[in-house]
Amino acid sequence: MTPKIELHLHLEGAAPPAFIRGLAREKSMDISGIFDAEGNYKYKDFWDFLKVYEAATSTLTTPEDYARLTLAVLEESAASGVVYSETFLSPDFCGGRDKGAWKEYLLAIREAADQAERTMGITLRGIITCIRHFGPEKARETALCAAETAGEWIVGFGIAGDEKIAQPKDFRWSFDCAREAGLRLTAHAGEWGGPESVRAAIKDLEVERIGHGVRAIEDLALVDEIAERGIVLEVCPGSNVALGIYPGFRKHPISQLYERGVKVTVSTDDPPFFHTTMAREFEMLHRAFDWDDAFFAALNKTALDAAFCDTDTGARIAKLLEA
Ligand code: HPA
Ligand code: ZN
Repeated sequence: MTPKIELHLHLEGAAPPAFIRGLAREKSMDISGIFDAEGNYKYKDFWDFLKVYEAATSTLTTPEDYARLTLAVLEESAASGVVYSETFLSPDFCGGRDKGAWKEYLLAIREAADQAERTMGITLRGIITCIRHFGPEKARETALCAAETAGEWIVGFGIAGDEKIAQPKDFRWSFDCAREAGLRLTAHAGEWGGPESVRAAIKDLEVERIGHGVRAIEDLALVDEIAERGIVLEVCPGSNVALGIYPGFRKHPISQLYERGVKVTVSTDDPPFFHTTMAREFEMLHRAFDWDDAFFAALNKTALDAAFCDTDTGARIAKLLEA
């Protein structure tokens, strides 16, 4: 299995449906409505996806649940060849943005990740993410949780959720707070919003990476600016196809963005929701654009260069890619 670097994965969004069903059963919670007849997550569109995501997440109520989740998720990632995973962690779901509770959840997640590193050879680093549709006020509390736990393991800060709600500038305080705490920055944009949304994230939040960013393709001057500034896109083609932004991999703009000089990387976003894995993403891109092993090796290098981990960790992971 080719080793892979993943930069954009939501921890709760990576929860296998059977794992969430198991937790619901243990806690006598009825969330059967979020699954289809085959036991997969069921949703109508992106906004329904967000609701189903939050319903699934409601079964995760203790640090121990998150420890088990972390192991289950890393097992899936490792099976796809992922050796380094930057994962979005949400204090909103882990203790409700209470700093004390958040630290307990984080400790449990980190201990599970350390165990996975020893047994499966996969390294996790955390990016704290605030949730756009929860609003700027809650994002401030999330940023304070992030600042409190920033370090060599919590390495970044970002924003996910409904891009149609509020503006990047409304979250400026939170991003400034995270930056001052030494965190590197990324923001979801250009998924449900167009080029103007990507422009605003770059200008108002001063991020070095964009989650998705693919709809920048609708404005070539913006594409050129992204390329010139060296801003990295965390592209999740299977997610975009599953949610109907593009009809298939062949119509996905990742190849065009690359051809125009943008640093693109590949991730899964919320793999079980989108019926994907990192192995499948690579396979589908190979089929759609004939990308070969040398191309994927270069893609991995771009991703590792854009990773938010410290240089020692980066150097250690680079050796795994060479092996
Ligand atoms: N976009 C925005 N918010 C999200 C996503 C996504 O793809 N996944 C989980 N939260
Ligand atoms: Zn995402």
